[in-house]
Amino acid sequence: MMTEVTQSGTAPWCSGQSFSPLEAETLVRIRAGLLLVRKFQKGDALQVSSLIHRSQRVTLSKCYSKRVTKEFCKINSPKDILRKAEDRQLFVAEEKKRILGVIGIKENELKTFFVDPKHQGRGVGRNLYERFKKEALKNGHKQVFLHATFYAVPIYQKFGFTRIRRIKREINGIPFYDVLMKMKYA
Ligand SMILES: CC(C)(COP(=O)(O)OP(=O)(O)OC[C@H]1O[C@@H](n2cnc3c(N)ncnc32)[C@H](O)[C@@H]1OP(=O)(O)O)[C@@H](O)C(=O)NCCC(=O)NCCS
Repeated sequence: MMTEVTQSGTAPWCSGQSFSPLEAETLVRIRAGLLLVRKFQKGDALQVSSLIHRSQRVTLSKCYSKRVTKEFCKINSPKDILRKAEDRQLFVAEEKKRILGVIGIKENELKTFFVDPKHQGRGVGRNLYERFKKEALKNGHKQVFLHATFYAVPIYQKFGFTRIRRIKREINGIPFYDVLMKMKYA
């Protein structure tokens, strides 16, 4: 479970670099570690792309065909990540200068949510989701939506999301299914 350590300050591995409250970095304790949740920066694109590829190849290949996984990877190159960062706000979770996860918010939609498979199950995703929620509420969104992979449906249910319906979608002409889900913040 998340323990917030500070909302601004210096991460121990950031050698003297400090953060202003305006940039809203959050240091949190997770299972066996200390995590910095912060805004995405352009220099993060390569690490973010690599962790998304690993997450897709290792985790999502359990629920989706090789063809679909390959197409998912194709649309998450470092260039794609930079393009995505222009149409949504991205946040990353970093431990010892290594990016472990990413989450995005585009209006009232949760997007681009991935954690490196080696670090899944440690609370990284929960802390990224808490950052998403803070941002959604700050922007006045009382209701948010997402398209969940089959793998992530039970995880989103833990966060409090409910299923709307299964949806047939397409990636570069290849059909696949995901689940439209919603959450109302009280
Ligand atoms: C979805 C994902 C980002 C979650 O990241 P994570 O770091 O593993 O998540 P956490 O460890 O913070 O777990 C979040 C919650 O889900 C629960 N959970 C984690 N894995 C679970 C699983 N396989 N089944 C059911 N519940 C699970 C945890 O117990 C935790 O609940 P809690 O916070 O109430 O204790 C990660 O699993 C992932 O990258 N999956 C592949 C990509 C994907 O499907 N992304 C979603 C795109 S829509």
